[in-house]
Amino acid sequence: MEVKQVLRMNGGNGETSYAKNSQLQNIMISQNRPITEAAIVDFYCTTFSHSISIADLGCSSGPNTLMFAWEIIEAIQKVCSISGRPLPEFRFFLNDLPGNDFNTIFKSLPEFHMKLMNVKGIGNGGCFIAGVPGTFYGRLFPSKSLDFVHSSSSLHWLSRVPPELDSEADTPLNKGKIYISKTSPSCVLNAYLVQFQKDFSLFLKSRSKEVVAGGRMVLSFLGRLTADPTTEESCHHWELLAHAINEMVLEGLLEKEKVDSFNAPYYSPSPEELESVIQGEGSFVLNRLQLYEVDWYPTYSDNIIQTESTDTAEKQNSMGGNYVAKTIRAVVESMLQNHFGEGIMDDLFRSSTKLQGREGNMELLTSILDENNPPDLINSLTPQKNTALHIAVAFGHEQIVREMIDREPSLISQPVTTRARD
Ligand SMILES: C[S@@+](CC[C@H](N)C(=O)[O-])C[C@H]1O[C@@H](n2cnc3c(N)ncnc32)[C@H](O)[C@@H]1O
Repeated sequence: MEVKQVLRMNGGNGETSYAKNSQLQNIMISQNRPITEAAIVDFYCTTFSHSISIADLGCSSGPNTLMFAWEIIEAIQKVCSISGRPLPEFRFFLNDLPGNDFNTIFKSLPEFHMKLMNVKGIGNGGCFIAGVPGTFYGRLFPSKSLDFVHSSSSLHWLSRVPPELDSEADTPLNKGKIYISKTSPSCVLNAYLVQFQKDFSLFLKSRSKEVVAGGRMVLSFLGRLTADPTTEESCHHWELLAHAINEMVLEGLLEKEKVDSFNAPYYSPSPEELESVIQGEGSFVLNRLQLYEVDWYPTYSDNIIQTESTDTAEKQNSMGGNYVAKTIRAVVESMLQNHFGEGIMDDLFRSSTKLQGREGNMELLTSILDENNPPDLINSLTPQKNTALHIAVAFGHEQIVREMIDREPSLISQPVTTRARD
């Protein structure tokens, strides 16, 4: 499956659109802002050129697309006002796959130009914006035409499902799963890694032809902290989605073969895997590699979800689950529709909302614990040093707490320390 034929964020401005459900990606752009600003200012201060060409790769549509352009202009404007220089001419190139909703971006441009004029005094001739449809795994721009490349929340998408796992492959290797999981055989892990290495290397090679000498790139995407690609941090949301899909198989709404033949064209690399491709490809020097932890669930103080102080923890959890499920739906719906059919999407995401809601799903807990080695999983710690029991207690899931203690009583037994008498 080639991604360019099936991956498309939900367009328009409706309830399930990417435009309305991309706050998480917006937070990621904001977290990265100091790095983006430092890189663009650093580049500009070494050239003070009359024009600056900037590409945003995987721009999608919605508020995030032009927010990035605005921030770049602000950063350069600050430098120019301090140094008394005139603003350079801004040339923005917004790239995405051809199926992207470029129309919605183009329709929002007059308002953006008006705001540039009113707030920044940048009028006709100060800022040009063009759409560039095509895959970033290949050439998109003329040689040496870009000063700065930015990409946010996009490069974790591969160019295709690894060929061994493609729906056309003879034998399904990753049965019942839709991405790498704890139970995936090592050939699945390897197939994903090899596809990532090929793709990212081609990405760097293509950009090396397009970026001027001394130009910069700031790339941010989902990755993982540890070497193990099966860790929860990189597989959790795919695991929940697979569970929701498998529930539909049990209900007779989907054929099992349909699940076995689907795998996501996605990979979240480790820092070592990234560095190794950058070094191996050899066109770019890595100045900085920064890891952020992303909290998928909004904190109730950040105004993403409107809750009342009187709302119960259960209600807040369910609103959080709804938010995460909508974030995921806006991104993956077109791809899932292409494979599983349009008819099941509402049911699938209803079920996914329940799973994402941290509602304490007993059925999910028992199926995971029966499948894995229970003591290992029950005793494992999250990066914040919590066990599953800590989390279940914090969320008040009494039934789950009881099940875990029944399975692993040592979780609450006091360690007895003895000392020999003097
Ligand atoms: C989650 S969106 C991120 C959009 C935006 N950068 C943001 O931060 O909100 C990922 C985008 O990457 C695009 N994308 C994925 N693979 C791509 C490729 N090979 N070439 C160009 N765009 C791609 C998708 O179509 C999608 O619009």
